[in-house]
Amino acid sequence: MDYSKLKIPTHIGIIVDGNGRWGMERGLSRSEGHKEGFMNVMRLLKYSYSKKVKCVSAYLFSTENFKRSKKEVDFIMGLLTGKLKDILKFCHDEKIKAVFSGRRDNLSSKIIKAIEKIESETNDYKDRIFNICFNYGGHLEIIDATKKIVLDSVEGVLDINELDEEKFSKYLYQDLPPVDLMIRTSGEQRLSNFMLWQCSYAEFYFPKVYFPDFNEEEFDKAILEYTKRDRRFGGIDYEEKSN
Ligand code: IPE
Ligand code: IPE
Ligand code: MG
Repeated sequence: MDYSKLKIPTHIGIIVDGNGRWGMERGLSRSEGHKEGFMNVMRLLKYSYSKKVKCVSAYLFSTENFKRSKKEVDFIMGLLTGKLKDILKFCHDEKIKAVFSGRRDNLSSKIIKAIEKIESETNDYKDRIFNICFNYGGHLEIIDATKKIVLDSVEGVLDINELDEEKFSKYLYQDLPPVDLMIRTSGEQRLSNFMLWQCSYAEFYFPKVYFPDFNEEEFDKAILEYTKRDRRFGGIDYEEKSN
């Protein structure tokens, strides 16, 4: 696809969905679907940055996903643990700054240590950002930000009367640009607690394919669709509408 005439979102949010169904419908297991999904995240990231997307947030595990069976949760935790070295190498190779969004409690000390290592080692890369949303919940992110704001206010670091949207954003897990394009695979049309603050003016795109099948061609379709959207942010283009 010729990308020269397409609008490229600065920040893409991806709700990775349908891994389990992908596995089951192939006569495999949900676990096989998760494995394939994790691999596809890396493939897709590489392609996104090659098309000049600056920031990708991938929703890989929600705070609510702890409601699943211990077997499935343990499998996903193990999958992430096993991938952390590859993620670090990948980020160095591609010069990507990796950051994590989510609660660190309920994660193993091995995961937390590896997360901290990845964040600190890739901190100097500026042009590409990979935001890994793991043990993430949009409500909790806003609550956690609010707690920090109250503390800063009590300690006199922040004048509460000066709190505006820009300042509030800085208290979220990561200070990132707003999400321009939110993609959720598998046909489900909901946010499931994903980046509630950051998606306020995002364009939503819901391809039917399960995440492991969301390949480069599907990504091209998403960008083409995004290019066609008229983003108004509450305003009106009077010149265009005048006759
Ligand atoms: C997405 O795939 C990965 C996680 C939420 C952890 P699912 O596991 O939700 O797969 P489906 O939606 O059940 O097929
Ligand atoms: C949302 O997917 C969470 C992630 C993709 C990590 P779910 O599969 O958990 O969402 P629901 O339960 O269908 O809303
Ligand atoms: Mg799902």
